Amino acid sequence: MSKQWAIWSAIALAAAASGSSAMAQEKIKVGFMLPFSGTYAALGVAIENGFRMQVAEQGGKLGGREIEYFKVDDESDPAKATDNVNRLIKRDKVDVIVGTVHSGVAMAMAKAAKESGTVLIVPNAGADAVTGPMCAPNIFRSSFSNWQTAYPMGLVAAKEGKKTAMTITWKYAAGEEAVNGMKEGFEKSGGKVTKQLTLPFPNVEFQALLTEIAAAKPDAVFSFFAGAGAVKFVKDYHASGLSKTIPLYGPGFLTDGTLDAQGEAAQGMLTTLHYADELGTARDQAFRTNYAKNYKLQPDVYAVQGYDAAQMLAVGLKAAGGDIGKKDVFRTAIEKATIASPRGDFTLSKAHNPVQDIYLRKVDGKENKKISVAVKALADPARGCRM
Ligand code: PHB
Repeated sequence: MSKQWAIWSAIALAAAASGSSAMAQEKIKVGFMLPFSGTYAALGVAIENGFRMQVAEQGGKLGGREIEYFKVDDESDPAKATDNVNRLIKRDKVDVIVGTVHSGVAMAMAKAAKESGTVLIVPNAGADAVTGPMCAPNIFRSSFSNWQTAYPMGLVAAKEGKKTAMTITWKYAAGEEAVNGMKEGFEKSGGKVTKQLTLPFPNVEFQALLTEIAAAKPDAVFSFFAGAGAVKFVKDYHASGLSKTIPLYGPGFLTDGTLDAQGEAAQGMLTTLHYADELGTARDQAFRTNYAKNYKLQPDVYAVQGYDAAQMLAVGLKAAGGDIGKKDVFRTAIEKATIASPRGDFTLSKAHNPVQDIYLRKVDGKENKKISVAVKALADPARGCRM
C-alpha cells in the first residue's frame, strides 16, 4: 500500500466513524400529527400512548437511535391539514410523521408525504385512497382501510337474517367509505340498503334522522361514528327506543374506547373490527397489562394501532442500522415483516395496508368480546394503487 493511499484510507475511515457516531447520537425525529382536541381527542391520546409504550418496551431506542418527539394538534380539520403537516416536514424537519385519525386530514398528509418523501405511518385514518390511488413507497398504515372494517359487517347483517338496512354517518370520506363497504357486503349477500342518511362532521344533532329511521322501520341500521360522537349517537339511539326493535350495527369504532360512557345503551351491540377486548393470547394480555399499568386505563383499538406504528418503524430502522435515509432497505424490511400485534400477527399488503383478521364482537359490560372471526386475513383491494 502506498503511503499516500494509507493516509487517504485512514482519513476515510475516521470520517466514516465520526459520521456514524454522529448519526447514532442524533435522535430520530418523530412528528405526531393527531387530534388532541375535538370529537377524536381521546383517539389521538391513545395512539400516542401506544406508540410511546412500544418505544419504552424497546428500551427507548429504535434501531439504536433515541427518539425526539414533535407534536401538532390537527383538530381533525382538513382545512388546516396542509399547513399543519408542513410544520412537521419543513419547520421541525422530522424523519417520520405518525398521523392521523381523520381520513380527510390524512389525505392531505399523504399528499405532502408523497411530495417530500418523508416517511408517513398512518395509525388510524382509514381513507381508502391512502393505500389506493395515493399509495407510495414511503407511506404505511398500521390500522385498516374504511372498506376493510365495514364490508364484513354487511356480510354479518345478512347472516343475521336482515333484508333491509338504513345507514347513518358523518358526511366525509370515512363515513362514506364505511357505508359503501357495508353495502357491498350486504347487497352481495342479498340485502338492500334502502336509504343513506348523513350529517356534517362532527355534528351530533341526530334527532331528526332518528325520527326518519323510526318511520321507515328497516331491519337494521348501520352507522359509522367514533370518539365522542359515537358515545352520543349510541346513547341517543337507545334513548329513542329504536334499539328495542332495530339493531344498530357498525364498524367497531362505534363501541371502542367508549363503553364507560355508553354504559347500558351499548349492551349487546354487534360490531366488526380488527381488535377485541378478550382475544385470550399471551401477546395481547402482556400488552393490556402493561398499558393498564402505565396509563391507568384499558387499551382500545387506537392504542394498538399506535403501538404497532412504533413496531413497524422499529423493524425498518433496525434493518437500516438506524439510518432512515436507506429508503429501500427501510421499506423492504417493513414489507417483509410479520408484525406481532396485540390484535394477532399481520403482514402488509403491496399497498402497505395490514392484511388482518376482522373479528365479530359483542358488547358485554365494559368489553367488546370476540364472538368469532368474521373474515380471516382480509386484505383491502387497494383499488387504484400502482406501486
Ligand atoms: C377516519 O376518519 O378514517 C376514522 C376516524 C375515526 C375512526 C375510524 C376512522 O375511529
